[in-house]
Amino acid sequence: MIVYLNNEFLPAEQACIPVLDRGFIFGDGVYEVIPAYGRRLFRLDEHLQRLHNSLTAVRIPNPLSREGWATMLNELIAQNEHDDQSLYLQVTRGSAQRDHAMPEEPVPTVFAMSNPLQPVSDSMREQGIAAITLDDIRWQRCHIKAISLLPNILLRQEALDNDAAEAILIRDGLATEGAASNLFIVSRGKLITPPTGPFLLPGITRDLILELAEANHIPFVEQNISRDELKNADEIWLTSSTKEILAVTRLDGEAVGGGKPGPLYQRMLALYQDYKQQLRNEPQ
Ligand code: PDD
Repeated sequence: MIVYLNNEFLPAEQACIPVLDRGFIFGDGVYEVIPAYGRRLFRLDEHLQRLHNSLTAVRIPNPLSREGWATMLNELIAQNEHDDQSLYLQVTRGSAQRDHAMPEEPVPTVFAMSNPLQPVSDSMREQGIAAITLDDIRWQRCHIKAISLLPNILLRQEALDNDAAEAILIRDGLATEGAASNLFIVSRGKLITPPTGPFLLPGITRDLILELAEANHIPFVEQNISRDELKNADEIWLTSSTKEILAVTRLDGEAVGGGKPGPLYQRMLALYQDYKQQLRNEPQ
């Protein structure tokens, strides 16, 4: 596997960072995960805008221009084997003597790698997944895509330990998002997702689904979802760049709707696949 580290493309085994890198010491950095279909980057401008917003929020200067990011990521895609790839990039505040205070002139560390994009299994598509609700133990700035993910890791693992694939997080009685995904429900024919704000990540997949809903006259609203609304939903979906859209068919051990992925899920998944296919067909 070829990775990118600070202006160089090199085999992953040869890529090294200093032990004093603040990403390693403090988890002081931000990241993005961007899919590429047929070697074409998916919603690149939206991902780069969110990266820029995360960097600004944590006061790390953006180390590359839009063109710089695009060139580097396309080169990384070219140097790796698969047509469908999952690009991971992270920017940390770089190396400095350990001190909570930020260094005055940080030299950010820029790292990117590509992994094959694993298609969602047929059984997950056909049967849906199980999820459990857990208290949202994360901080107050979940809109920043920070690399410090210890709460998300604990939450996801607790879900797995309970034979569920994802945790749906509850804060002050409201369902916010998954440990690594955004949340949608279908209630009385309407698609509902919580509004963006400090308690959830503004997902790129989430925004695309709202765009597709709008373009196809599917009624939708950005509105808070209470724990009760979640429990009584006809359909529950979780969305992310790597898993696209997954239907939750069991919540806290009980069947959701008819216990199978619902009709609106099937429709949105088809619209999403068409959108991806258009990207694959674009000239490179
Ligand atoms: N996670 N919410 C959280 C907390 C996430 O970590 C993610 C994605 C999402 C969905 O965002 P998007 O649609 O832009 O992928 C929502 C990535 C995939 C990860 O950490 O691997």
